[in-house]
Order: sequence, then structure tokens, then C-alpha cells
Amino acid sequence: MGNEENITQEDYDSLIKPYEEALAFVNLRLNGMDQEYRSLSRNYPIHSMQQRIKSRSSIVRKLENKGRSVSKGSAGDCLTDIAGIRVIVYFEQDIYTVIRDLKKQPDVKVIKETDYVKNPKSNGYKSYHLVLNVPVYRMRETRFYPVEVQIRTLSMDLWASMEHRICYKNWRGDDVPDDVRNMLKLYANGLEKMEQDMYAQITNAGKPGS
Ligand code: GTP
Ligand code: MG
Repeated sequence: MGNEENITQEDYDSLIKPYEEALAFVNLRLNGMDQEYRSLSRNYPIHSMQQRIKSRSSIVRKLENKGRSVSKGSAGDCLTDIAGIRVIVYFEQDIYTVIRDLKKQPDVKVIKETDYVKNPKSNGYKSYHLVLNVPVYRMRETRFYPVEVQIRTLSMDLWASMEHRICYKNWRGDDVPDDVRNMLKLYANGLEKMEQDMYAQITNAGKPGS
């Protein structure tokens, strides 16, 4: 990867600084929401959260794959997932609760939104993606930085983690053999069914006389 030197360690360190702040901002908001949900109901929606800043090598690889020039400036211009947070919830309904409440916050701006829950990808991938634009304050100016938020249920996360492990490692996005493709689709449907059956138990348990 000769291109890696085009973004030096120094470039990378200064590039990610404001993204770290933007990520901390979103993390703080989501943690606040999580605490409030837990204090309000036993059926709180959020199971767990993970955050990450994209590594230097992943940034270089992604720019190369997109056919963009490899530089600090290009990374800032082309990538909206340098800062990312994944919110794992219990059930599909919880995804929409979290999105609704996140959007209520007046200083959180949504710049991109993709609902792969209502419209799953052809391989079976489901998740709700939001890109938020978050203010980062400096004495001379305030600038907005994107943070990618992926919201998915535990079972969607199980599937996506396995699919990533299997397909990314073996085929890197190239043609996945039919039998593997079919197996993944089958389990995407099976996991969805499992989740729905379990959700029915939650709603039944909430009913009087049960
Ligand atoms: P890129 O961000 O350039 O990849 O394109 P995009 O903005 O169209 O991306 P999209 O919103 O489809 O996906 C962004 C992220 O979602 C990826 O980096 C993955 O973390 C996740 N993702 C999307 N599709 C898949 C998939 O088929 N399988 C798995 N495991 N993860 C996926
Ligand atoms: Mg993306």
C-alpha cells in the first residue's frame, strides 16, 4: 500500500481530532437518552453502544476503493464515517424510538438517512443508518463534522457481524457464491422471525392476566 504515506501519522492525528470531539458529543447525547429510558421503563430500547474512529489504513483503503485521491483533505471531503457509533437495540420497534428521540434534539442535524430495515439490502443486510452533522467549536470558527450512526437490533448485529467476517475476509465484496448467498438470506429471515416471536412474548407479558 504505497498510498499510505500520502496520509502521514501526523496528518491522521490532526484529521481525527475534531471527529473525536464530534463523536464524544453524539455519545454523550445517546448515553443521556439511554439513562432516561432506563429510568422510565423496564422495556428500555438500548442494549449497548460501540464507537470507533476509522483507522488510518481503513481511511486509505476506502479512498482508494472510491477512486479518490489519498490525502487528508480528500478524507475530510469524501468520507462521512470517520467517526462512527453503533447503537444495538433489542427489537425493530426500538430502532424507531431511538431515531425519533435523537431527532428531537434541536442541535442535531441529519444530513443522510438510509433505512435498510424497511428496505433491506439484497444480501439481507438490515440496519438504520444516519449521518449527523455535529458542531465542533473553535475560538475562530464553528465547523460541522459528520458522525455515522448505525442503529440495529441484536439479531441484525449478529447477522451483519457474521456476514462481514465471512464475506469480507473471503471475497472482499466480489461475487459471493450462490450457496453462501442463499445461506445468509435464509438466516437473515430466520433471525427476523426469532426476533418477532420474542417480541410477541414481551407484548404478551405486558397484558393483564398473563
Ligand atoms: P460507504 O459508506 O462508502 O460504504 O457507502 P454508503 O454510504 O452507501 O454505505 P452504506 O450506508 O450502505 O454502509 C455503510 C456501512 O454500513 C458500512 O461501512 C458497513 O459498516 C455497513 N454495511 C453496509 N452494507 C453492509 C453489508 O452488506 N454487510 C455488512 N456486514 N455491513 C454493511
Ligand atoms: Mg457510509
